Parts: sequence; structure tokens; C-alpha cells
Amino acid sequence: RGTGGDEEKLYRYNGVLYSTLLSPEEHLKCLEKMQAREDDIMLVAYPKCGFNWMVGVMRKIIAAATGVKSESKIPVGLNMVCCVHPQKVDEAPSPRFLGTHLHPNNIPASFYEKKTKILVVFRNPKDTMVSFYHFSNSNPALPSAKSWDTFYSQFMSGEVAWGSYFDHALGWEKKMDDPNVMVVTYEEMKQDLSESIRKVSSFYGFSLTDAQVQQIADASTFKAMKESSASSHGNMGNVFFRKGEVGDWKNHFTPEQSREMDEVFNKRLAGTKIGAKLNY
Ligand code: A3P
Repeated sequence: RGTGGDEEKLYRYNGVLYSTLLSPEEHLKCLEKMQAREDDIMLVAYPKCGFNWMVGVMRKIIAAATGVKSESKIPVGLNMVCCVHPQKVDEAPSPRFLGTHLHPNNIPASFYEKKTKILVVFRNPKDTMVSFYHFSNSNPALPSAKSWDTFYSQFMSGEVAWGSYFDHALGWEKKMDDPNVMVVTYEEMKQDLSESIRKVSSFYGFSLTDAQVQQIADASTFKAMKESSASSHGNMGNVFFRKGEVGDWKNHFTPEQSREMDEVFNKRLAGTKIGAKLNY
């Protein structure tokens, strides 16, 4: 105790594990009272589903559509994940670009009441788990994953920071018909980034020319974002931009683990709209 060791890196809030450093209890408490604004631009993702990729894309969309000269002027630092105190978010000028890994039930109620547009990024659970495993081993804010098998068990039982992948997916399932909520998957972005950029822009009511869409897509490839990651993410650049592929799970899952994941996925998400989107 008091050593800052792995056992102190996570704590439980409303039954869910959070990072002591990235989501301090004081911030989560403060968030409960946070007031949404109709023109907030809200991005939500379960960890490792491509949050930083979409942040990069959205900053470029906002910059192109609003004529802001430098996309770094767009305050992505106002991130509810997170290290920024919610009070600072409260004081920020509109329109605010907000991001969070919170479960949909823990997003302040005011965002739903105000009908703030919420973009949700999701990814197939196997690649999400692989990405989370590597992230845990390279992010000092999280307990190291130890072995793959240990992390596999923790992920399957939801005993990881920000909670269970399946609980998050089922939470969004309840909002799939809400016109203010849109889900875009990592796999969709990989397949046709320009199309995803068009979808996201029109969801937020931004209009972009074809040339702007193309420019944003070119600047948002894995290679381009990794190359600029030292300036966008400092020494965490290589951690957030690791491999950037669909299907890396095949290099990690044993056949037995893959079967078990398929079973759990089918049991929990069969017949759901979100499950159909996340099918891999
Ligand atoms: P991998 O670990 O599989 O490489 P998050 O930002 O939510 O933490 O997600 C991180 C994952 O998104 C990492 O996955 C990272 O490489 C991937 N990623 C980030 N930018 C990307 C891009 N431009 N294209 C494809 N994948 C990207």
C-alpha cells in the first residue's frame, strides 16, 4: 500500500473499475452534475475501439467546416475521460468537442435531455481485447496485463478499466433508434474512410466538399496519424497508434478462446442491432 503499485491503479465506482489516474473519483462525482449543451459535439467509445482515430478525423472535419485555421485549436483536451477536471469543461466556450469512455448509463443525463448529438465508435470485441492487452502493458496508468490468458479472463468478465465491453454494447443497443445517436465501427472506417467522414459530417450538420473529404481521409490513414503522433500524443504516440489493423486477434486468441468469445457474443448480443454491426 502507498507504493503506487498495480493494485492501486484501478478503483471501483458504481460497481465498475476505473483508472485512479485517468478517471479520479472526484471527477466522476463532478460529472454527475454536468450540464450538456445542444451544440456540444460528443464522441464516445469503449477503450481501444478507435477513439483517437475518430478524434483526429473529427478535429479535421470541424476545422474544415468551420474554417478554424489550426485543428489543434479545437479543444480536444476537454475530454471527459479523464484528466481534465469537469469544471473546466463546464466553463469552456461553445461549441465544445467532448470525448469519453463512460458507459452510456453513466453519461450525464443532461446530454440525453438536451438531445446532444452523440457519435459512438465501436470495434469487434476480439481486436478490441488485443488492443487493450497491449495498451495495458504500455500505459503506466493501467495495471500491466501480465499474461495474455490473464487479460483474456479479465476482459471476458468485465474486470478491466471502464468495465465490460458487452455491457457498453448492450447500453448503446437501447439507443440505436435515437436519431441523436450514431454508431460508426472501426471496421467501417477501415473499409471506406471517406464514407465514414461523410456520414460523421452530415450527422453533425457540417458540409464538406469532396476535395475536403479526400484531404481528411488522406491525413487520417494509420500511417499518416502514426507519423504525426509524436506531435499529437507526445511519448504516448506509439502506444495509441500500435498496429491499426482488422484481425490481429488471429495472432493472439487460442481456438478455444475464440470459440468462447463467439459463444458469449452470441449469447449476449444475438439479435441486437449493435451486435449485427459488430459482427466480425
Ligand atoms: P491497435 O492496438 O489494434 O493497433 P483508441 O484510440 O480507442 O485507444 O484505439 C486505439 C486503436 O486504434 C489502436 O489499435 C490503434 O492502432 C488504432 N488506430 C488509431 N489510429 C488509427 C488509424 N488512423 N487507422 C487505423 N487504426 C487506428
